[in-house]
Amino acid sequence: MTAPRRLFTAPVGWATVTRARLDKQPREIAAMFDGVAARYDLTNDVLSLGQDRRWRRAVVRAVAPAPGERVLDLAAGTGTSSSPFAAAGARVVPCDFSTGMLREGKRQWPQLPFVAGDATRLPFADASFDAVTISFGLRNVHDPDTGLHEMLRVTRPGGRLVVCEFSHPTWAPFRTVYVEYLMRALPALARRLSTSPDAYVYLAESIRAWPSQRGLSAWIAAAGWTDVRWRDLSGGIVSLHHAVRPERTRNTQRARAVNPQVRA
Ligand SMILES: C[S@@+](CC[C@H](N)C(=O)[O-])C[C@H]1O[C@@H](n2cnc3c(N)ncnc32)[C@H](O)[C@@H]1O
Repeated sequence: MTAPRRLFTAPVGWATVTRARLDKQPREIAAMFDGVAARYDLTNDVLSLGQDRRWRRAVVRAVAPAPGERVLDLAAGTGTSSSPFAAAGARVVPCDFSTGMLREGKRQWPQLPFVAGDATRLPFADASFDAVTISFGLRNVHDPDTGLHEMLRVTRPGGRLVVCEFSHPTWAPFRTVYVEYLMRALPALARRLSTSPDAYVYLAESIRAWPSQRGLSAWIAAAGWTDVRWRDLSGGIVSLHHAVRPERTRNTQRARAVNPQVRA
């Protein structure tokens, strides 16, 4: 499975930042998020019209962590997607590679054990988590395919994956209204909130470039996950993909190739 090259770095939650070149490097992506960290959560709240809070609650329900379970929240940003897991009694580890986002996260949630790490070379041992989740992050990962393999590697056999990402409204009339919002209302709002409002014009394009719900399922399955299923939120603006690591995994060799730290 080959992930298509991303067109834009949109995918913030809603707090898109700046248009990216086709070949944006991981360091540039991290720097971009460093730049928006301080206003990231406020911007998300406003531009999603408060829906982001509902989506985050749905993610926790989908992961369904038992008290004490170890949960990796990958591309955790400021930890807003991680804190509900701690509240649910899980031992959540927020991981991100933007030091700006991590610093803002530590300021907001000093009790959370933030870890600096790249999704494509995770600094964790094999099978060290009961569940891995990634919210509005997979589209930002420069190589989502390798990221999905790494998530599989660090999840214990039988453990769960939940991916929360922007997707595609399924009802055509709603899709039309939604694209109008993205293309017209969002840039207008962003002009008041963001220092890089032009980027919002491109958010719709980045969402269009992202695979459909079915397409993302295929990516996840191709990375070695089983029982892949999804649920739409807000009519498909967002989808939650759920999968399970099989008891026997065939990708350790591949994981070792991309991340030499992987145990033989
Ligand atoms: C839109 S934010 C999402 C933050 C948080 N999960 C949320 O729901 O608000 C995307 C995050 O992905 C992170 N990210 C992008 N590529 C990454 C990578 N390869 N490894 C780790 N984090 C990455 C960015 O630094 C950014 O903080």
